[in-house]
Amino acid sequence: MTMLEVRNLHVTYGKVRAVRGICLDVAEGQIVTLIGANGAGKSSVMHAICGVIKPQAGQITFNGRDISGLPSHRIVPQGIAQVPEGRMIFEDLTIRENLLVGGYVRSRGTDDERIDEVLELFPVLRPRLVEPAANLSGGQQQMLAIARGLMSNPAFLMLDEPSLGLSPKAAEEVFDLIGKLRASGVTILLVEQNVRQALAIASRGYVLESGQVILQGGSTELLSDERLINAYLGIRRH
Ligand SMILES: Nc1ncnc2c1ncn2[C@@H]1O[C@H](COP(=O)(O)OP(=O)(O)OP(=O)(O)O)[C@@H](O)[C@H]1O
Ligand SMILES: [Mg+2]
Repeated sequence: MTMLEVRNLHVTYGKVRAVRGICLDVAEGQIVTLIGANGAGKSSVMHAICGVIKPQAGQITFNGRDISGLPSHRIVPQGIAQVPEGRMIFEDLTIRENLLVGGYVRSRGTDDERIDEVLELFPVLRPRLVEPAANLSGGQQQMLAIARGLMSNPAFLMLDEPSLGLSPKAAEEVFDLIGKLRASGVTILLVEQNVRQALAIASRGYVLESGQVILQGGSTELLSDERLINAYLGIRRH
C-alpha cells in the first residue's frame, strides 16, 4: 500500500525554484532513497512533506489524507517525523532533555516509558542519559538525533543525510540501525550522498537534479544505470 504520495510538488524560496514538479511514492514498509548533488532540492522535499515549509504547489497525501500545506504540528501527530540534516542536537542539554524535545506530540505513556522503549535500539545512550549531549561523538549524536525522531512514535521517518561527516565505521552503524528500524515496521525516506550504501539498503530510489526527478527505479536497476554510475558512484564528496 502506498503510504506517501507526492504529486507535482513545487517549493520556492523567493525567486529560487528549489523543487520543480516532483512526484514520488513511498510504499508502507519500504526504504526509499533520494539521491542528488548539493542544492538538488532533497531537503526541500522533506521540509515540504513534514510541513516545515509550505509548498508553492502540488499535493502530498499520507495514508490517503491530503496533508499538503498543513503546519508541522498537525503533520507530526499523523505519524511523520524528520531527522534534519546536521543533526540539530542541543549540546548544552542532556541526552534525556534532547530526547524530550522530540516527544512533544506523544499521547500515551510517560516520557520515561517512551525513552525506555526508544533506547532499546540505542544501548549506548542508555547509561548516559544525564550527560550533556556535547560529550557524545559525532556518530553517537547522529544516533541521538534519530532516537529523538522516534520519540513521537512515527510510522514514517525521514532521515536527511544521516551519515554525513561520520567515520566509515560510524556510518556503517547508522546504516545498520536504519535496517533495524525498517525491520521494526518504520517506513523510511532516506536522503544520502552515500549513494552506494543508500541503494544497498533501499528498495527504490529517485535521483534529483535541479529540483526535478531525472531518474527513478528499483535499487538494483539504479545501481547498474550508466547515468547514475557516471554521476554518483565512485565519487564521494565528503
Ligand atoms: N532557506 C532558503 N532560502 C533560499 N534558498 C534556499 C533555502 N534553502 C534552500 N535553498 C536553495 O534551494 C535549492 C535546493 O536546496 P536544498 O537544501 O533543498 O537542496 P539539497 O539537495 O538538500 O542540498 P544539500 O545536498 O546541499 O543538502 C538550492 O538552490 C538552495 O540554495
Ligand atoms: Mg539537504
